[in-house]
Amino acid sequence: MWLVLLLCLCLCLLALGLLGVLRFGSAGNPFAGPPLQPPRPLVMDQKVRDKVLKQGFSPEKVPANLDAIVIGSGIGGLAAAAALAKAGKRVLVLEQHDQAGGCCHTFQEKGFEFDVGIHYVGQMHPAGMLRVALDQLTDGQLEWVQLEDPYDTVIVGAQHYHLCSGKRTFVEELEKQFPEEEEAIREFMRLSKVAMRRVPLIAMLKMIPHWLATLLIHTGLIHWVSSVFKMAVTSHSQVLEWLTTNKDLQVVLSYLFYGVPPRDSSFLINALLIHHYKRGAWYPRGGASEIAFHAIPVIQRAGGTVLVRARVERVLLSESGTAVGVTVQKRGQEERVYAPVVISDAGIFNTFGRLLPPEIRSRAGIQSVLSMVQHGMGSFLVFVGLKGTTEELALKSTNYWIYLDNNLDDMMTRFAALSREEVSENMPMFFITFPSAKDPTYQLRHPGRSCMTILTMARYEWFEAWSGACVKNRGDDYHAYKMEIAQRLLDMALERFPQLHGKVAFLEAASPLTNQHYLLAPRGEMYGAEHNVSRFAPAVVAAMRAETPIKNLYLTGQDVFSCGLAGALHGGLICASTILNRVLYIDLLLLKRRLKREQGKKAP
Ligand SMILES: Cc1cc2nc3c(=O)[nH]c(=O)nc-3n(C[C@H](O)[C@H](O)[C@H](O)COP(=O)(O)OP(=O)(O)OC[C@H]3O[C@@H](n4cnc5c(N)ncnc54)[C@H](O)[C@@H]3O)c2cc1C
Ligand SMILES: *[C@@H]1O[C@H](CO)[C@@H](O)[C@H](O)[C@H]1NC(C)=O
Repeated sequence: MWLVLLLCLCLCLLALGLLGVLRFGSAGNPFAGPPLQPPRPLVMDQKVRDKVLKQGFSPEKVPANLDAIVIGSGIGGLAAAAALAKAGKRVLVLEQHDQAGGCCHTFQEKGFEFDVGIHYVGQMHPAGMLRVALDQLTDGQLEWVQLEDPYDTVIVGAQHYHLCSGKRTFVEELEKQFPEEEEAIREFMRLSKVAMRRVPLIAMLKMIPHWLATLLIHTGLIHWVSSVFKMAVTSHSQVLEWLTTNKDLQVVLSYLFYGVPPRDSSFLINALLIHHYKRGAWYPRGGASEIAFHAIPVIQRAGGTVLVRARVERVLLSESGTAVGVTVQKRGQEERVYAPVVISDAGIFNTFGRLLPPEIRSRAGIQSVLSMVQHGMGSFLVFVGLKGTTEELALKSTNYWIYLDNNLDDMMTRFAALSREEVSENMPMFFITFPSAKDPTYQLRHPGRSCMTILTMARYEWFEAWSGACVKNRGDDYHAYKMEIAQRLLDMALERFPQLHGKVAFLEAASPLTNQHYLLAPRGEMYGAEHNVSRFAPAVVAAMRAETPIKNLYLTGQDVFSCGLAGALHGGLICASTILNRVLYIDLLLLKRRLKREQGKKAP
């Protein structure tokens, strides 16, 4: 009997919490606009693109009467800004780099174009929730091209495993490759479906008042609400050991590396990652810079804008400690920009650790959040320019995840413990992708050329000695060290794609120091705060929210929810929901339903 009572009580509390968020403020539904226009032709004129993506900061360009300032133009910043803009708010986005986009930016060199932080995205099927959200935030102008099947090939030692898209196909193809493991695969898929269905509760814990979240957690009521909170703190390896003894299958069920060994990572997050792609993988038509290119006009239409070469030095606080604006360093002068709301996409470490005045930074409320998380691991990227077209080089849009053996826990632990000198000869895992093969417009834009990107994880400590030096001028020893790793990764890639021998026309590499420079990632993190299992403990989930201990200062992006374009976008939606006092997910859900109905009508 008391169990039922408890359950009722906690459901009431949750409903109360939801109502708290639902208190429909003055702001209307940002997603209620007229139907979106079909995509216009791809803009290839670089000057036209630069006018949108590279608008430099000057005080004269700052619109008057701002409703909000966003620090950082990654997808987290752009999503929050575009959602607010669609609710009629005038938003200024300030980006320190010379172009907008954060991880979604691209760079061009020697006639090649490379994207830095978007290789492929899942759940972009039409009328899917994520797609509906992104369409809204980019005016329906962003197009997605689906990767061919298998979208991912996981190579474990000498074995190749293929992942094919489709709710059913994914499972059937996997079962064909592991015929003895049908039961384990089914059970994994069942659990990942539960994870997917219940994950909105994780977002909700970030949106209900913090006191209520704390109450639910301290009383243990949270676990009565859903099993998802237990899933979140269960070690991925532990679940895999319980499901199967097949080591290769264990790898395939945790193949998307992000710097945390499966042992220390959350089952929920890994299951969601696999679920994210299983219906298919997509790439932005025209490359990753299309994302910011189409989000910015939405912000501008409401009177806001996105300005680059605008490094925010600090958040301005009123005497009572409320955020009232930011300062931007311009030609040795400090420019002040004011707005009633300040949103940071710069990550939790930059925002709390650097942008707040020291006396505020040391406050208990700030320090307790900071102590819950650590810096994630850095990444190492090799950008390879190739002579020849997709057809000439026989390239595929498939991505390759390569592991030299099938014990990921040991392998990753050993890798992370390497000394600087040992790295280049001991790289046990890497990822290979051919962006030019994924984008049908690449040949139009860069005729006769192709590109390959190789990715692995890297520790900041390996490169730290050079962190003080200037970008592109870190000295010969840095260059030699970086290129030794790059060359080794290239050699290993060429072993797998022998047709590319003699076709390499360009080689460049990016270390954690590159992330530090271009993304201001404090320790070269690839994905912001470490995604280990502790990060998904209910108390940490509740604390890493858009609201901060500083009134009118909000967080957005990957540190609010999780990494990835989807994760950072959710960060933006949670942030905009918090500010607008409105659960935007409900608006999106209703819109999604409507679109599905209309689609059904159109079909013969
Ligand atoms: C190598 C790599 C590969 C990836 N591959 C994929 C993939 O295939 N699929 C996928 O979904 N995700 C991928 N991701 C992850 C995904 O790109 C990120 O998780 C996501 O884009 C992060 O968005 P964000 O807005 O939180 O942060 P960011 O994109 O990092 O944006 C933060 C922005 O804030 C700016 N900034 C910081 N401080 C200041 C300041 N003081 N003043 C002004 N501006 C400031 C930075 O310059 C930056 O532009 C990848 C990431 C990396 C690094
Ligand atoms: C994860 O990170 C937290 C925060 O820094 C740390 O205290 C904890 O020990 C880590 N947990 C695991 C399992 O690695």
